[in-house]
Amino acid sequence: MPTPDLDHGAKHPVRLWRVRIWDLPTRLFHWLVVGLFAFSWWTAESDRLDWHILSGYAILALVVFRIYWGFVGSDTARFTTFLKGPRTFFAYSRRLLDRPVHISQGHNPMGGWSVIALIALLLLQAGLGLFAIDVDGINAGPLDNLVSFETGRRAAGLHGLVFNILLMLTALHVAAVLYYWLWGRDNLIDAMITGAKLMPGVEPPRATRFAPLGRAVLGLIAAALLVACVVLWRF
Ligand code: HEM
Repeated sequence: MPTPDLDHGAKHPVRLWRVRIWDLPTRLFHWLVVGLFAFSWWTAESDRLDWHILSGYAILALVVFRIYWGFVGSDTARFTTFLKGPRTFFAYSRRLLDRPVHISQGHNPMGGWSVIALIALLLLQAGLGLFAIDVDGINAGPLDNLVSFETGRRAAGLHGLVFNILLMLTALHVAAVLYYWLWGRDNLIDAMITGAKLMPGVEPPRATRFAPLGRAVLGLIAAALLVACVVLWRF
């Protein structure tokens, strides 16, 4: 639905078009990861290791699902759509201070790479947890029997290190989102909640091609089964 003209004097009046850009699976993935990331942190700090491990399994399944969705999901969720080469990346970065910012119909060329970094680090973090062994060897990930005690301790050390990197990247991520909102006048958070955003243009923007929800459900079931097989390996 177009809103009233923004520029009445212009030859071709620019309008704001409300477009659906994020599908439900991508939005659910995001907000579940946010909740589980905070929950994992809290359960680690408060020594609720059983819950911490379960939360890690859930993150792992969600990340496996997101990788699948990056290949077969709706076009804004696909890696090939939002991963841009250096030329586009640097051209975009030079316009970063524009106000309002250039509004992207999905992840922008810089944001796309930070999304990949977050997904890769979440995968690494949850993966390391599978092998981590605590200092007295009492608490351990489900695959600790596949590695020596020393390797399990190293995995635990890296698990702590990657968490700190994730924390820094998340702070940067949230700061970037706030920057777009407060400086760039592009409310990305609203889009990640409702799935829709306002796009300026003379013509209506192209419609997002959404993948069927059944494909997401199948992917999520497969991801959960895969994680279940991995963690039940020893039994
Ligand atoms: C309250 C804190 C957070 C807010 C407000 C927030 C907001 C957002 C927004 C608005 C986007 C879409 C960006 C765009 O339009 O390009 C996004 C994407 C993303 N965020 Fe966050 N985020 C938060 C915390 C986190 C945390 C803790 C993580 C993981 C550690 C995370 C991981 C991601 C990932 C992986 C994406 C890409 C989503 C996808 O394409 O599947 N976010 N976030």
